Amino acid sequence: MTADILLTHIHKLYTSSSKPPVHGKKMNEVVCIDDAFLAIKAEKILDFGSHSFLEYIGSMTEVIDCHKLILTPGFIDSHTHLVHAGSRELESIQIANQIPYLEILKHGGGILSTVKETRNASFDELYNKASIVLDRMLSFGVTTIEAKSGYGLDVLTELKQLEVVKSLNLKHPIDIYSTYLGAHAIPKEFKDNRDEYTKLVLDQMKKIKELNLANAVDVFFETDVFNYQETKHILEKAKGLGFRIHLHADEITSLGGAKLGIELKANSIDHLMAISDDDIALLKDTNTVCNLLPSTSFFLNKPFARARFLIDSSAAVAISSDYNPGSAPSENFQFSMQLALFKMKLSPYEILSATTINPAYHLGIDKEAGSISIGKKADLVLIEAPNLEYFYVNVGVNHVSKVYKSGKLVFSN
Ligand code: NIG
Ligand code: FE
Repeated sequence: MTADILLTHIHKLYTSSSKPPVHGKKMNEVVCIDDAFLAIKAEKILDFGSHSFLEYIGSMTEVIDCHKLILTPGFIDSHTHLVHAGSRELESIQIANQIPYLEILKHGGGILSTVKETRNASFDELYNKASIVLDRMLSFGVTTIEAKSGYGLDVLTELKQLEVVKSLNLKHPIDIYSTYLGAHAIPKEFKDNRDEYTKLVLDQMKKIKELNLANAVDVFFETDVFNYQETKHILEKAKGLGFRIHLHADEITSLGGAKLGIELKANSIDHLMAISDDDIALLKDTNTVCNLLPSTSFFLNKPFARARFLIDSSAAVAISSDYNPGSAPSENFQFSMQLALFKMKLSPYEILSATTINPAYHLGIDKEAGSISIGKKADLVLIEAPNLEYFYVNVGVNHVSKVYKSGKLVFSN
């Protein structure tokens, strides 16, 4: 069979080949093939390796010499707050100057100020802003993301956010998996009536399921946000409705969020900057992926999650950006990877596993994405670098040369 596109003489091709979720030591097992080729046919990977590729060349095949480039699977950013209005740069500067993030939220700022702006924004305003963000993410090598709602906290605006995601998913090359995060904060109008708000979240969940507007449900379990009982109740109901489960857990305060996530068999538990040693021990070889967000630690002026300890304790780890206007205002996914290297002490190969195969697994798409494997979607990043290590170390420079999504060239530099 001849290929539509044939990438030849790739300087180095990198991919995880382990069965996900990839735990502990296995995260460092990445295949690196020198002088490789990769053949693409009808959106998928037809073959790859270092053997002869002549059989794949036909009269219509586009042959691309890649001798100065390395190749990785498209990156998967499995925790973002993509759709919102406005920005909060002044808060970021306050936080840098030691004003706590939760203090700002308590006084009606933070998430609640973005809620106000998002409620006032039209569908088109939200769509156009998010579309530009997606273009930037793509330029950094990201081919799939997860996107949460949670800046509406009322029926109309939550649905508006999810509808924006649905439209963007149809039009933009990046695949987007959406999550309902109605339980992101208690809106001002329910401040003295939390139970009513939790009920509203449960009602909305049913509606969103009927409309098929989200794949998953998430809750922000944190001091002064959602408590243990509320979180458990919402997530149990969500599971019952057939949603996947994510959880903002042990981000700032150690409240046992990780433990709750493991008990509920959550697909991912996210943040974990304050996870306890006892809860880390519970994660050994579970299918719940620890989704760590180093950019958030950077912007919130907080300690980084103990990724080394987690991996050494045989947990499965993913790294995501947490892109949002408050705690992680950057579309540059490579920045998160670089913090994972320099601040969390992950190895370059562990970072690759954490940004491709493990996030694919917890989003439920590992059969079609997350590694370079025959038959998977041709979601690929060509990078101008002598090796993967250089790509991570040369901070502040985007070396992405080309991005393919389902076999189509969608970014070129
Ligand atoms: O993951 N922690 C809750 N949600 C986001 C922040 C959202 C915001 O500040 O707007 C996070 O850090
Ligand atoms: Fe988040």
